[in-house]
Amino acid sequence: MLIKIAPSILSADFSKLGEEVLRIERAGADLVHIDVMDGHFVPNITIGPPVVKSLKKVSNLPFEVHLMIENPDMYIESFADAGADIISVHAESCCHLHRTIQKIKQLGKKAVVALNPATSLCTVEWVLEDVDMILLMSVNPGFGGQKYISGVTRKIEELKRIIDSRGLHIDIEVDGGIDTENIHSVTKAGANVIVSGSTIFAAEDTVKIIQELRMNSYR
Ligand code: DX5
Ligand code: ZN
Repeated sequence: MLIKIAPSILSADFSKLGEEVLRIERAGADLVHIDVMDGHFVPNITIGPPVVKSLKKVSNLPFEVHLMIENPDMYIESFADAGADIISVHAESCCHLHRTIQKIKQLGKKAVVALNPATSLCTVEWVLEDVDMILLMSVNPGFGGQKYISGVTRKIEELKRIIDSRGLHIDIEVDGGIDTENIHSVTKAGANVIVSGSTIFAAEDTVKIIQELRMNSYR
């Protein structure tokens, strides 16, 4: 399966975000992963629709907004208007998950459901047919640079098994603590969209690190 590398700009230099997005685009990134945090759902605050709108002007890559916020329904339209192509909501913050997914799709955007490390796969069992991708968190959301929770590898395998057994074609994205060493275990388990923040932005050579992540994901 084709692997996509999705740099998380949470670890970018916020004083020159436009240049940072261009840097990853030129280095071969497949999409831009934008971590949106509200200080309620997660203990951190990041960026909102105006920033997404500004960045959209400088980049041609697809934008994914990873909404780590309470009451995402209230903001989906604003992010869609700002230029998000893929909208990811957490199952833990949606009490009417099916409705939220439909709302994203009605806006013509790709719908993704994210699950925290401790949240069971059965939470998405009845919406699998409706989504474009499932995002499995491999750290507790809120911060970049955390360590990959190894137990998540088995969760990826299990999700892949369920998706295949139903004959579905849904992407599996994994987010948190992925580096050039552990990326292969993540893709081997069945993930095909790989988020990486601190690994990519801490590297001296962005082209090289993205190439290395991609290469290592296949072996
Ligand atoms: C965590 C975010 C991740 C994070 C990934 O809450 O959702 O996208 O920034 O960064 P690294 O790769 O540094 O774990
Ligand atoms: Zn994220």
